[in-house]
Amino acid sequence: MTEHSLNSNVTRRGFLRIIGWGSFFVTLGILIGGTMRFLFPRVLFERPSTFKAGFPHEFDRKDRADENGVFEVYEKWKDEHSACLVREKNRIYAVHVKCTHLGCTPNWFADDRIFKCPCHGSQFHSNGVNFAGPAPRPLDRFGISIADDGMIVVDKSRVYTSKDFDKRGAYLNV
Ligand code: FES
Repeated sequence: MTEHSLNSNVTRRGFLRIIGWGSFFVTLGILIGGTMRFLFPRVLFERPSTFKAGFPHEFDRKDRADENGVFEVYEKWKDEHSACLVREKNRIYAVHVKCTHLGCTPNWFADDRIFKCPCHGSQFHSNGVNFAGPAPRPLDRFGISIADDGMIVVDKSRVYTSKDFDKRGAYLNV
């Protein structure tokens, strides 16, 4: 065997070894990857549709009501839950802060007592009723109730449009 053929032999053998180990590790990787996918399946973790908003006494009336009978609009849950709680004389309800035009998020302007949509300028009174811009109807409301522990629960899976605002579940009597 010449020196050249010996080198060529070793190189070929080394090459085959690399191919062999490479295939082995690729197969191993695929197996491990498959196992990991099995252990951690693609599950869509959705946020719960309900949230607790405190006790009714935390929404005690303040000052005076505005011209729509609203004492206070609570924005605390707006970013996380797209909801503002509204206190009227004898009611609390949860306004779904999603414009009824094309779904943008209206902002609450406490000084002006209005919700105003940044997209196309729709405006809503403090009770969510539309009065300007292209929004075709009032802001919807979420279901609201009292839990066993006495806290207010807002249920975003129950949505009430304006024709149902007086239905049981669309507001709390306080
Ligand atoms: S999305 Fe609000 S006015 Fe168009």
